Amino acid sequence: MPRSRPNYAFSRARWSAAQLVVLTLLALAVTALFVRAADNPSDHVPSFVEWTPETIAQASSGDPFRGMLLARHCEHCHGTEGFSDKGSTPNLAAMDRLALWKELEDFRAHKRVAFPMNPIAEDLSHKDMVDLAAYYAKLPIFYDPEDKRVFPRPLPGLAQKNMAWRLVTFGDGERGIPPCQACHGPIAYRPGAPSLMTQNSDYLLAQLEAFAHRTRANDINEPMRTIADLLTDEERLALAAYYGSGLGMQPGSSWPSK
Ligand code: HEC
Ligand code: HEC
Repeated sequence: MPRSRPNYAFSRARWSAAQLVVLTLLALAVTALFVRAADNPSDHVPSFVEWTPETIAQASSGDPFRGMLLARHCEHCHGTEGFSDKGSTPNLAAMDRLALWKELEDFRAHKRVAFPMNPIAEDLSHKDMVDLAAYYAKLPIFYDPEDKRVFPRPLPGLAQKNMAWRLVTFGDGERGIPPCQACHGPIAYRPGAPSLMTQNSDYLLAQLEAFAHRTRANDINEPMRTIADLLTDEERLALAAYYGSGLGMQPGSSWPSK
């Protein structure tokens, strides 16, 4: 009895159909990966925070007393009085409450990546964050003999002081750098711009470098990435020394530039 011949043509066709399916699936997967990397809007959004009147009202509604109880988990690093004993850890005392809340929200959403704050913020509820912001915003900045603050650092030399003072007060029109105080006080104020007046110089320098290198990219509309990138290394150092020594507490325009 003649054995029926295997239908090679059919199996070849089936094999190439299977190949086609596999190839199509592979191509789809690769395209999806590229599309995700290039077009996923969440990769380009600096922060999920939007400064609408509702957000501002909500973020300003915290309970400072409850915040004080929660802050026991923060004082090991940020100090009992909101002044850290390490130059690389930011002071939180008297920080603007909208700015403080936004940073916590960005840490939680991994829009700002910085160990150890990401896991800490992930464990906080929305209410915890607004309450903590309300508490820290109310802390006074005067010196307390009990705390081990490293702020303020010694005053910078005259050349460094003047370099920073010009940028803080006037910016540099030719290079398109607006004055720092236009957003960080005391002349104007922009929601989400933290006060720099009592901040540690090591931390300030690290943040200016992070914005310039875009390892910190949570500034809405990129003011800080743009500005930090336009500054020279020398200017970033001078600005960190200026604010870190407490000079920012005097209105920039009243400082004699001699
Ligand atoms: C283990 C130490 C540690 C603990 C605990 C800690 N922090 Fe931090 N925090 C840091 C460090 C370090 C940074 C700076 C991160 C960076 O380099 O960007 C920071 C940054 C921040 C900032 C950003 C400040 C700014 O000027 O942008 C906020 C706000 C903050 N922490 C709030 C808190 C709160 C609220 C808690 C408690 C619930 C807390 N932290 C607990 C170490 C700590
Ligand atoms: C157009 C407004 C604007 C100007 C001008 C500006 N900044 Fe900022 N800056 C911001 C905002 C907004 C943030 C907060 C970004 C975010 O959402 O985390 C910020 C954040 C910072 C931070 C991080 C502070 C922290 O607590 O983490 C530093 C440091 C800083 N600015 C320094 C400067 C210096 C120095 C200048 C002047 C050369 C300057 N900025 C000019 C808007 C501005």
